[in-house]
Amino acid sequence: MNDDLLSNDSANPHLEQLLGARPAGSARRRQVLQAGLGSAALAFFGLPAQAAGGGGSGIGFRPIAAATDDAVRVPDGYTLQLLYAWGDAISLGPAFRGDASNSAPEQAEQAGMHHDGMHFFPFVNDGRPSSTHGLLCINHEYTDEGLLHVGGTADWSHAKTLKSQNAHGISVIEVQLRGSGSELRWQLVRPSAYARRITARTPMRIDGPAAGAGEMRTREDRRGNVVFGTLANCAMGVTPWGTYLSCEENFNGYFNASGTPTAAQMRYGIREGGSGLRWHEYDSRFDVATEPNEANRFGWVVEVDPWQPDRPPVKHTALGRFKHEGATVTLASDGRVVVYMGDDEAFEYIYKYVSRDRFIAGSSANSGRWLEVGTLYVARFEADGRGQWVALQHGQNSLNEANGFASQAEVLIRARQAADLVGATKMDRPEWIAVQPQSGEVYCTLTNNRQRVIADAANPRADNAFGHIIRWREDAGDAAAGRFSWDIFVLCGDSQHSDANKRGNIRGDSFGSPDGLFFDRAGRLWIQTDVPGRLMNHGDYQRIGNNQMLVADVDSGEIRRFLTGPSGCEITGLTATPDSCNLFVNVQHPGEVPGARSDPARPLAVSGWPANQFAEVTGGRPRSATLVIRRRDGGVVGT
Ligand code: FEO
Ligand code: CA
Ligand code: CA
Repeated sequence: MNDDLLSNDSANPHLEQLLGARPAGSARRRQVLQAGLGSAALAFFGLPAQAAGGGGSGIGFRPIAAATDDAVRVPDGYTLQLLYAWGDAISLGPAFRGDASNSAPEQAEQAGMHHDGMHFFPFVNDGRPSSTHGLLCINHEYTDEGLLHVGGTADWSHAKTLKSQNAHGISVIEVQLRGSGSELRWQLVRPSAYARRITARTPMRIDGPAAGAGEMRTREDRRGNVVFGTLANCAMGVTPWGTYLSCEENFNGYFNASGTPTAAQMRYGIREGGSGLRWHEYDSRFDVATEPNEANRFGWVVEVDPWQPDRPPVKHTALGRFKHEGATVTLASDGRVVVYMGDDEAFEYIYKYVSRDRFIAGSSANSGRWLEVGTLYVARFEADGRGQWVALQHGQNSLNEANGFASQAEVLIRARQAADLVGATKMDRPEWIAVQPQSGEVYCTLTNNRQRVIADAANPRADNAFGHIIRWREDAGDAAAGRFSWDIFVLCGDSQHSDANKRGNIRGDSFGSPDGLFFDRAGRLWIQTDVPGRLMNHGDYQRIGNNQMLVADVDSGEIRRFLTGPSGCEITGLTATPDSCNLFVNVQHPGEVPGARSDPARPLAVSGWPANQFAEVTGGRPRSATLVIRRRDGGVVGT
């Protein structure tokens, strides 16, 4: 989802004001990390220890051209299958109706809208993770209310509010590769004991330092430790103990504020009317005047155990409250759990969490407090290619009552303001973060920031229309380190652009607005793009085509285009089976119109996907969907 909001009016100096500017493109040459990850981390990534040290990360397909047609395109030699579209039943539930007439209770048993982050959890047979049978966790980030209901938002009602809430959240589905030869297909297992929808109404626990704090208590929850629902679920993470992390991003838009907003509401973009969803008219939780603390209970990282369908999700306040894009987990050298997180808004920050306790391989999901007790840090990027993690810990770094933070709960609930106070570096919209499995290097997409006037070393272009990917190496290769070295992996752009500032330095195919990131087990970096609909195939983006997915060889820097999406879509969310032979990819909001709300009288105005490409799919409306991509010869995707 694109979000051009601007909430950070803090007086934080831009980096170059502190340490002197450095011109674009002068980032130091990359040094290869010598110290690899510990064996615990390798096991977590599913890699045998001898796989460490790289090799075999090459890309072997012929890149495809940029495209503007209303279809998904992949290179020759690959097959595409549509697996799970908005409205598909998660188990033995109701069928999708192409006129959007499914009811709110039916929607709660069907795929939500606007698929985003996703992860494949394999079943394990005789100690070996399966590449043909697993659980897929999929985020449903937001909704197009024009497509979701008969008549769109006309005659807005309690029933439409409920349906909208039920189209948000997360799907857990069981999937299996069945058949043989040309009949080989991934299918949902129906019925499935694991199939589950988590929505904006599902009860969940709150833990960590902010649980129970006064700011977390509401009329419905006087203890401040239970909340109904999760929403704006953007990207994700996966833990070494086998659970899924879902991240609440643009939560502010669901709340209607009235009167004079507080400084904290301003800093989080909570305002009158929100993003126009109108939930507050039928659910007073979302009306700030009625329930001022409900908004404090969103903007967190949510943990779901896909293997225990009866276990409530948990919101982990120790990881801070902001517009969480994703939560990428790795392990420190000593086994502590490290989570990297971006706050996706112009001029927001990059965060890292380090657990107090170590993770011991084989520990079960219930046996630790890794995401409950730990320290949150925020990044300062220095102009000399170094950086530091500054602790957001009450009593340290001026985070005290005199400066407006009376407790650690307040630091975490207002993490953005705490980060302002410690001088974090304002970034160009941090999106996904991925850790290179062999080297431990960390890559983060900075999608774009057209509002940047003053460039700095880490955000080296004013009017950053195309975005860039930054990366860092923690000192001594230890993810828990307090300092790191960084450089810019790539400046995105159009190599043919008339403005040299917008050409970028890609070695390969042009693209912009990088968002989704994923390392496959061989260390190939998959990059997905989210060019806003109003810019796609116009102006700066005239030659870039529809949103797409590319693959980078991070050693050589070569980047090739692998997939192009249908009209009006964003490509976001991807995961692979352990053998890397099946790649699951999400197409989000095909057919998006400017303003992101379709005309219900003309639902097919921009796109007829996926029914126009897959004969077996019910149409009537554009539908976000999960695809499976395989090589025709069954080999590793991308090679
Ligand atoms: Fe939901 Fe920042 O993308
Ligand atoms: Ca985005
Ligand atoms: Ca995103």
